[in-house]
Amino acid sequence: MIKVLNLYAGIGGNRKLWENVDVTAIEHDQKIAKIYQDYFPQDRVIVADAHQYLLEHFEEFDFIWSSPPCPSHSKVRFANLIQNKPIFPEMSLYQEIIFLKHYFKGKFVVENVIAFYEPLIKPQQVGKHFYWTNFPLNDICKLDSKGRGMGRDESLENLYKLKGFDLSNFSGIDKMKTIRNCVEPNEALHIFDMAFKKPQQTLELVK
Ligand SMILES: C[S@@+](CC[C@H](N)C(=O)[O-])C[C@H]1O[C@@H](n2cnc3c(N)ncnc32)[C@H](O)[C@@H]1O
Repeated sequence: MIKVLNLYAGIGGNRKLWENVDVTAIEHDQKIAKIYQDYFPQDRVIVADAHQYLLEHFEEFDFIWSSPPCPSHSKVRFANLIQNKPIFPEMSLYQEIIFLKHYFKGKFVVENVIAFYEPLIKPQQVGKHFYWTNFPLNDICKLDSKGRGMGRDESLENLYKLKGFDLSNFSGIDKMKTIRNCVEPNEALHIFDMAFKKPQQTLELVK
């Protein structure tokens, strides 16, 4: 089984379709972590700071997926400075990319929204998101990414269907924010598969 560290796990949108994995998920919000655990009882869910956990445990895993919080980088938030006060962009995003690239021996994915500035490290873009990986995302253009349902007319019901989660029975959380935070499961499955894809064999011509 592939040992996976799922950082900033949310309710597990990215993890939903992964199979044959032994997952440790880190989420600092107790209520969100509880929902994740309900959906994925087989995963080890730890309520902790994901950034610090990465530093202390990265060597224990084959694959690391990190979804650091996106508001401070978001083009959408930046576009509405009447509602949103300026804030410092959170540099832990770049700390993790550089750290993983140089110290981690397995495969990694760091994902975030499209930034309002030129990214400091060049990502690959899939739909409305940036991905930093240490493996090629070759077929990425073919992926039919539906994004995260940020359209104005998206209802909770539509988002539940799109993401494959139903939060109707959970309370004490911002359901719209929580479901929107989820990576689209098919997108995450595709990326996960690419990390472990066998090198393509060249067809030999028959003489
Ligand atoms: C963008 S969401 C993650 C979405 C997740 N990858 C998915 O596909 O469902 C970011 C999550 O990180 C959590 N979070 C924010 N800061 C954190 C920290 N320092 N340590 C752990 N979790 C954190 C938030 O509560 C939120 O649930």
